[in-house]
Amino acid sequence: MKSVVILVAMLGFGLPGDAHAQDADIAAGKAYAEEVCARCHAVLAGEDMSPDFSATPFEQVAKTPGMTEMALSVFLQTPHIDMPNLILEQDDARNVIAYIRSLDGRE
Ligand code: HEC
Repeated sequence: MKSVVILVAMLGFGLPGDAHAQDADIAAGKAYAEEVCARCHAVLAGEDMSPDFSATPFEQVAKTPGMTEMALSVFLQTPHIDMPNLILEQDDARNVIAYIRSLDGRE
């Protein structure tokens, strides 16, 4: 019984092996990023040129050493230089962070 529950949970989250993404929704994070962040950032895997040249492409953010879930989380609770109103709701932040971290090519 217990193993069935765990299996369902892993299928549901689609990310066995990534303990940090357990309760985050990567697909929702991607949708959110495309809606909110893509105006300035390259948000998709393989994109290396952001619409706003000073905004780091998300794939590059994902590959930056030290850009941990914690670092991203702190960053997203702090206003961007150019966008003082961009403070994310906790759920949105968690999903977007999970999405960004899924771009690091280590999967
Ligand atoms: C209005 C344009 C704009 C939007 C929209 C925007 N950003 Fe940014 N972002 C920037 C710029 C410019 C920088 C670089 C300057 C800075 O660090 O503030 C940046 C930097 C960042 C960094 C740090 C990258 C690094 O290497 O230090 C992260 C992480 C980030 N943005 C995430 C996001 C997320 C997530 C969203 C959507 C929820 C978002 N941004 C939306 C313009 C934007």
